[in-house]
Amino acid sequence: MTKSYEIIDHHYDVIVIGAGGSGLRATLGSAELGLKTACISKVFPTRSHTVAAQGGIGAALGNMGEDNWKWHMYDTVKGSDWLGDQDAIEYLCSKAPEAVIELENYGMPFSRTEDGKIYQRPFGGHLTKNGEGPPAMRACAAADRTGHAMLHTLYQQSLKHKVEFFIEYFVLDLLMDDSSNCLGVVAWNLEDGTIHRFLTHQTILATGGYGRAYLSSTSAHICTGDGSAMALRQNLPLSDMEFIQFHPTGVYGAGVLITEGARGEGGYLTNNDGERFMERYAPNAKDLASRDVVSRAMTIEINEKRGCGEKADHVLLHLEHLDPETLLKRLPGISETAKIFAGVNLTKEPIPVLPTVHYNMGGIPTNYRTEVLNPTKENPENICEGLMAVGEAACVSVHGANRLGTNSLIDLIVFGKAASITAKEKVKPNSAKLSLRQSSTDLILERFDNIRYNKGELTTGEIRQSMQEIMQSKCAVFRTKELISKGIEEFGNIETSMKNINVKDKSLIFNTDLTEALELNNLIAQSKVTLHSALYRTESRGAHAREDFKDRDDKNWLAHSLSWLNADGKVSLDKRSVHMNTLSNHAQSIPPKKRVY
Ligand code: FUM
Repeated sequence: MTKSYEIIDHHYDVIVIGAGGSGLRATLGSAELGLKTACISKVFPTRSHTVAAQGGIGAALGNMGEDNWKWHMYDTVKGSDWLGDQDAIEYLCSKAPEAVIELENYGMPFSRTEDGKIYQRPFGGHLTKNGEGPPAMRACAAADRTGHAMLHTLYQQSLKHKVEFFIEYFVLDLLMDDSSNCLGVVAWNLEDGTIHRFLTHQTILATGGYGRAYLSSTSAHICTGDGSAMALRQNLPLSDMEFIQFHPTGVYGAGVLITEGARGEGGYLTNNDGERFMERYAPNAKDLASRDVVSRAMTIEINEKRGCGEKADHVLLHLEHLDPETLLKRLPGISETAKIFAGVNLTKEPIPVLPTVHYNMGGIPTNYRTEVLNPTKENPENICEGLMAVGEAACVSVHGANRLGTNSLIDLIVFGKAASITAKEKVKPNSAKLSLRQSSTDLILERFDNIRYNKGELTTGEIRQSMQEIMQSKCAVFRTKELISKGIEEFGNIETSMKNINVKDKSLIFNTDLTEALELNNLIAQSKVTLHSALYRTESRGAHAREDFKDRDDKNWLAHSLSWLNADGKVSLDKRSVHMNTLSNHAQSIPPKKRVY
């Protein structure tokens, strides 16, 4: 049954979907540049997942030791296992210091050194002297609540600039014209049930990652990658979806994040023998090796029966040797987390931890200007006009096969601002209103109704649980052809189950049953292309560790994967070249070499 809805129209120069760090930075930047800007978010802005970011934001300020943005660039390229685009990485690292100072000037309450500078701590994979020197003090921190401080600062600045917020609006889909240019979105107001059409010259997707595709994740329940699923539904590809980051220190059982800043402040991991096992896997960087390396080492320890606890299924993170004053001052958040979720007083006992899904390196492919790519055979850099993407939703790609800690927050800020600069180049303030054929909106509402009124038997929770179990067991830290193929086979049942979904609550007012069903549909699309991309890439690189293809294969796979979800439900795959070129002659291209820490 399709219902006819009354549509409320809005016209803006720019709309931003999502109010996390990248969304708010893009919103604020567009408003500062005089563009008529709206920000649409399914949650209140300061509840966006950026609020949970803990340890720091990466920038070579050199406040607490020698540093240089080119060393940051080197570490990021190496951390990405050479899959990151070097023009975009140069842009990120060279702009990072000024982006952090801008945050400071906006009023972000950073922790301070004795002489009043922004406090910086070491983080995994960040070194000095092109990997040859000691750890870099590069993570600019607000205790262990850096994301919280950042998000509130950006929201307050956006309010100051009189941005229009549409809060608790769930975006259903992108509106495209006949030439596949984006003209805006259709959204459902969760509070009063009305349907809204936002017509705009530039739509910026800042909708975050899809960590909730997995059973155990540091991501909030809202992390369902809605924008990436919308891109898939418009026959746009996603890129590098096989690269899922496992954070080494999720609290065992609960999956809640214990910041890598804990190891930056001197914490270390041990196995069942009390051995600091990271010394074997990464003799130089040890516990501060990059996340893929530490997560694999932990998994091997557990698989080889050196795990801790009754089931030998986790390892221990020690902080009890550190000064309690330092713990209170620098890591107050995780002190609480350890108590609440592990029942541990971290000044006295170690925390049980396990690698936990944390970040999606893959997403909507963009160039460093944040324009969404719709690659064709003739032009791999072809742009989808009217559409941009930033933050975890995007694959710029600065993180390549493995993101370094703290590079997410700086990515949000640098590319959030870049999106506003690109928007200003493309749109004149108060540009003419756009119009569109009604049938585009009807199609979106038909999909909405198909889920809302489906006469099935399964609940969203049941289907979601089955999907998460497949992803957790078939597409985790170590993968093989057999395992992933089994996952793909089992995934067929998930798609069948989705056809048998029953949303009991048919109303339109704060209907979490329906919202979660729509989110599940988005997760399913992304999980499916993730599994296929993982099978496609027959090498090991960064976070993608294939036991049947143990080595990195630069000859065949120094390339981004592209995955499309066709209308018939089949997945198409292809490759796109990695940008090995830099953006300017201030930086030199960094050729691939063996990655050791
Ligand atoms: O460990 C952390 O604090 C997480 C930081 C990040 O993912 O960048």
